[in-house]
Amino acid sequence: MILVVGGAGYIGSHVVKKLLDNGKNVVVLDNLTTGHRKSIDARADFLEGDIGSKKSLDELFLKYDIESVMHFAASSLVGESVKNPAKYYENNVSNTLTLLTKMMEYNVKNFIFSSTAATYGLTEDELITEETTLNPINPYGRSKLMIEQIVQDFHVAYQLNYVILRYFNAAGADPSGIIGENHDPETHLIPLVLKNLLGERESITIFGEDYDTFDGTCIRDYIHVNDLAEAHILSLEALLANRFKSKVYNLGNGNGYSVKEIVDMCERVSSRKANVLIGDRRSGDPSKLVADATIIKKELNWKPVFNLEKIIEHAWNYHSQNQEMIKQ
Ligand code: UFG
Repeated sequence: MILVVGGAGYIGSHVVKKLLDNGKNVVVLDNLTTGHRKSIDARADFLEGDIGSKKSLDELFLKYDIESVMHFAASSLVGESVKNPAKYYENNVSNTLTLLTKMMEYNVKNFIFSSTAATYGLTEDELITEETTLNPINPYGRSKLMIEQIVQDFHVAYQLNYVILRYFNAAGADPSGIIGENHDPETHLIPLVLKNLLGERESITIFGEDYDTFDGTCIRDYIHVNDLAEAHILSLEALLANRFKSKVYNLGNGNGYSVKEIVDMCERVSSRKANVLIGDRRSGDPSKLVADATIIKKELNWKPVFNLEKIIEHAWNYHSQNQEMIKQ
């Protein structure tokens, strides 16, 4: 049995679906503060609870024969983390420590952890490799880096086996249109542009056009959520097959797109015109984050299959099909 914490959230729900499609048994723990009950695949078992709750964790580890844990339950907004760092150190660092400690108590030794490109922060490197200096510039990135360090210490001291996956910008939706990106409030670029194109928001504001990039707007590496999900399946298989006991991998497409290019692609895919405003920079935003994901491609034969156009097509499909639900 695989325990997926945060399995009702955006990325977690896509991984749960893929695990089940691959014939795995899954139990989800989620407190539904940002996740949605209806995003949890009906084939999975579900417990509503918090990863910081020792009681919920005891209940799960006693009831199920859990072999591995995948961890998606985190606060993940860069801007919010600058304004409310306590939330990030509590939800991310402290609660993950509780989860890991319980795993050790119940002798559950396989862990797949969702980390982030925000652990790198500012870098001169054209492409970010796993060796790029870790220099996070916001509390979100710092909280994830602290967890990485805890995981590595648990590996040395208690033989926790792990794969840390540093995601770049997760985007898109399952092609079925059943699950997708639905945050409340929404702060991510692609869904916000799509909401503007659907008439749910009056405008989309570009946060700064004075960055040191080719068009002055920030550059990010957008990666389809199902390509991310596939990387989790491959990572867990490799861990369970004893191919290694610990790894850190970047997950991105290796292509950087500026905020303006994203707006253009959303307009093209939807055949609509966005109402774009230019605003100030958002605090905590690095100008450019683009992945070198060569190592996971080589070692696990991971092949991201969706380009930016497909990512936005699937996101558009999800948003236009689920307008009423996403608005709520
Ligand atoms: N942006 C705008 N206007 C908006 C929203 C975003 O211009 O209304 C810009 C941001 O300034 C940034 C880019 O669009 O330059 C992408 O912003 P998102 O908020 O969509 O995503 P972030 O890059 O801030 O962060 C995301 C995840 C993090 C993860 C990071 C890794 O939310 O969890 O990608 O690259 F760490």
